[in-house]
Amino acid sequence: MATPSVSSFCFVILLCSAAAEALEGGLSVELIHRDSPKSPFYDPSETPFQRAEKAVRRSIACVRDLRSNDEGEPSADISRIDGEYLINITIGTPPVSMMTIADTGSDLIWTQCQPCDVCFPQVAPLFNPRASSTYEQVHCVSDKCHLYDKTFCNTEGFTCQYSAVYGDQSHSEGNISTDIIELTTLSGSPEPVPFPGMAFGCGIKNDGLFSIHATGIVGLSAGKASLVSQIGGYLSRLFAYCLVPFFSTSKYTSKLTFGFDAQLTGPGIVTTPLILKSPRQYYYLTLEGISVNGKKFMVSGSSGPGAVTGNMVIDSGTTLTWLPSNLYGQIVQAVSAAISLPRAKDPIAGYGL
Ligand SMILES: *[C@@H]1O[C@H](CO)[C@@H](O)[C@H](O)[C@H]1NC(C)=O
Ligand SMILES: *[C@@H]1O[C@H](CO)[C@@H](O)[C@H](O)[C@H]1NC(C)=O
Repeated sequence: MATPSVSSFCFVILLCSAAAEALEGGLSVELIHRDSPKSPFYDPSETPFQRAEKAVRRSIACVRDLRSNDEGEPSADISRIDGEYLINITIGTPPVSMMTIADTGSDLIWTQCQPCDVCFPQVAPLFNPRASSTYEQVHCVSDKCHLYDKTFCNTEGFTCQYSAVYGDQSHSEGNISTDIIELTTLSGSPEPVPFPGMAFGCGIKNDGLFSIHATGIVGLSAGKASLVSQIGGYLSRLFAYCLVPFFSTSKYTSKLTFGFDAQLTGPGIVTTPLILKSPRQYYYLTLEGISVNGKKFMVSGSSGPGAVTGNMVIDSGTTLTWLPSNLYGQIVQAVSAAISLPRAKDPIAGYGL
């Protein structure tokens, strides 16, 4: 709907519980908002209004990609590459740190790799697999080759290759590989926590609307190749993220928590089930309706519990909430009827699209 996300919200995702191994409670990493001071995208000359405006524009582009895929249902392809949150991970031995886009809407983890056939320009040095003593290319028959569903076999070396195509025709192709991925934790371990044998895409043909500041993507979907699923082999397949308003990131940090620490309990905590559909690319919620001043407006076709199950996508890469236009119209009417002030012109020409 029509406001940038200004309130904090947290949610927890329980995929299934496996035994927690290495770390008892789990671990938390920082989610860096692209417009916050720790982000390479940060532009100190921008006003909060300009940042909000750009976030609105990114959201609009993102929803267009979702819609263009096919009749309402997001397609199996990743819908877009522009992200709102970044994670700083390291890959390899010795560890090479990189800023990647955190994306709940895709599963593959990938980064640009040397030697590149086609690479988009990036500020950080390219990951060089030959410089990592723990790097391995994945064989076609390996299970790790089939964590991601868009892989094929290179008939010369029987190595596993992948091709990830985005809604805007941006793409990444390369070799599925394994190496140690380390995460720097916000609490607990002072040292980065290593996860050996993580499968990721070593991208050697990457083309499209990528930015120079992020070297790749970390997929957080429920698909088997995602960071959540792969870390699930070490901890539990439980994760939570907590997003603070990006205007106030100096005081609090947004974080991503893996393992049992991700469970939120206590007074005032309410939960709603997340819905998974096949392919497991997105997390869905069921939106029944929205109340304004105690009057309920239901999503059309739904008259109470058991509305259209999973009619809403939860997405770390979109700032705005989008509603069906009939519901949106009703909400706008009810809100403007409740506020006796003259209506301002839409300053961004994107709200109410
Ligand atoms: C990422 O984390 C490493 C330490 O783990 C740090 O040295 C590096 O500066 C961080 N990168 C950015 C861009 O914050
Ligand atoms: C990717 O795999 C191909 C085929 O095995 C190989 O020739 C190439 O060197 C690999 N590239 C990287 C960056 O690992």
